[in-house]
Amino acid sequence: MRKPIIAGNWKMHKTIEEGEKLVNLLKRQLYDLEDIDIVLCPPFTHLAYIADMLESSNILLGAQDMHWEDEGAYTGEISAPMLKSAGCKFVLIGHSERRQLFGETNETVHKKLTSALNNGLTPIVCIGENLKQREEGVTFALVSEQLELALKALQPERLKEIIIAYEPVWAIGSGKVASSEQAQEVHRYIRDWLSKNYGLSLAQEVRIQYGGSVKPDNIAGLIAQADVDGALVGGSSLDADSFCAIVKIVRDPTS
Ligand code: 13P
Repeated sequence: MRKPIIAGNWKMHKTIEEGEKLVNLLKRQLYDLEDIDIVLCPPFTHLAYIADMLESSNILLGAQDMHWEDEGAYTGEISAPMLKSAGCKFVLIGHSERRQLFGETNETVHKKLTSALNNGLTPIVCIGENLKQREEGVTFALVSEQLELALKALQPERLKEIIIAYEPVWAIGSGKVASSEQAQEVHRYIRDWLSKNYGLSLAQEVRIQYGGSVKPDNIAGLIAQADVDGALVGGSSLDADSFCAIVKIVRDPTS
């Protein structure tokens, strides 16, 4: 049984003060939830403050990106050991906005994934097709290529240390969520790909999140799918009531 995981990707939203306010509201509403991983990924500047606020709570901290070197002359970059020392347990890698706007490639995704694992961070590896690729019918080919190049030479016993986020680019920030069937179809494909490359039992352990316009009113259908193990939430993670509603529905779909 895979433990569900909901992560909030704040992207470039909220000042530190606004972030602290949101975290206080989330702690109040989510403090007694167990058997679910709840992760917040605020901007870098907020991490150490929020880590303090989350100490001894059931909410975990993640970052939105990292550099693959531990240290060096890379002005403006943040490394895995720095994230670790700021209190992070997770890190998003290869988000489509990084790929589209900031030159992230499958090769840099691979280097970041390796560094995250070597430094004890859990990478959430983001993959997914854009609208043109979906319309051209190359979604599966693209997803396998992204997986193959990101996970290249990953030792099988490390597979369960990673999380995959399937985020169709056309569904991100567009209000156009993938239907539950569309999500399940690709999640199933991803798990089959993992199974082919690492064996069924290891593939069964990997958590695969869906991301793209997740909201309280569409999460139930998504989480009911056999291969959807949680969500990576953008816009709806900026509002305490929406994010908490999503977490609670995933924790207890019958509620
Ligand atoms: P939205 O939930 O705003 O569509 O963003 C999804 C996303 O990109 C999460 O990483």
